Amino acid sequence: MIRLQGVHKAFGANRVLRGVDLEIPEGETLTIIGGSGTGKSVTLKLMVGLLRPDHGRIWVDDTETTFLNEDKLFEEQKKFGFLFQGAALFDSLTVAENILFGVRNLRPELLANARGVVEQKLGFVGLKPEVALLKPAELSGGMKKRVGLARAIAHEPKYILYDEPTTGLDPIMSDVINELILSLQERLKVTSIVVTHDMKSTYKVSNRIAMLHEGRIVAEGTPREIQSSENPLVKQFITGSSQGPIQMAVRHA
Ligand SMILES: Nc1ncnc2c1ncn2[C@@H]1O[C@H](COP(=O)(O)OP(=O)(O)O)[C@@H](O)[C@H]1O
Ligand SMILES: [Mg+2]
Repeated sequence: MIRLQGVHKAFGANRVLRGVDLEIPEGETLTIIGGSGTGKSVTLKLMVGLLRPDHGRIWVDDTETTFLNEDKLFEEQKKFGFLFQGAALFDSLTVAENILFGVRNLRPELLANARGVVEQKLGFVGLKPEVALLKPAELSGGMKKRVGLARAIAHEPKYILYDEPTTGLDPIMSDVINELILSLQERLKVTSIVVTHDMKSTYKVSNRIAMLHEGRIVAEGTPREIQSSENPLVKQFITGSSQGPIQMAVRHA
């Protein structure tokens, strides 16, 4: 379980999060939707402890991570796999080295069978073992995402955080990634938090959806509940309309 309670985060005068409450139970896939710059990536970074909140509290399982020292926080961070926005592979390393990058730090004992780890994880994301020797420059956008995902799961995390997993991909490759998210969910029994503004992907992969707007979660529910929501913010966002309260908020900002 991951829990955020009254979380605030500002960067100078930019008050990004202003009291975020969220709870993600074991085994669930929660998707956080919201416009660009609303603080979705910041929320993921707070969950994993890459950023610290200004106020509020954060728990990972039974441990409150809000004020943990670096060593103890590191123990909690091992539980997370993070698919960064844009995959963020190391260009000078091979696919295999990229996949093993986190394992070296987080689960060195798995390196006894490094080759097995690489092949198994490539298999999970639907790539052949031969891909291990390639460099990122030799991969298509979709393959890079898959390798990023193989790297995120290499140390066998309990939680997977996906930051815009389908952004920049064509519709078919997006659906391949959605299918992968679902299959990892099923096979690895992980708990996932997905950040996206792709509604098709959201409906497909989520058990629950939360919408972030002006620093708070303004709506939360099952895909069905969100689809039939009467909340004007939600209605505007999911239909992708330029007309409505979200645009107004931007104009008056
Ligand atoms: N490390 C940082 N330093 C300063 N500002 C940041 C930092 N990270 C994010 N921000 C700002 O916080 C806001 C939310 O960013 P982000 O979470 O990346 O938005 P998004 O919802 O698009 O993922 C943006 O205005 C961004 O510029
Ligand atoms: Mg982002």
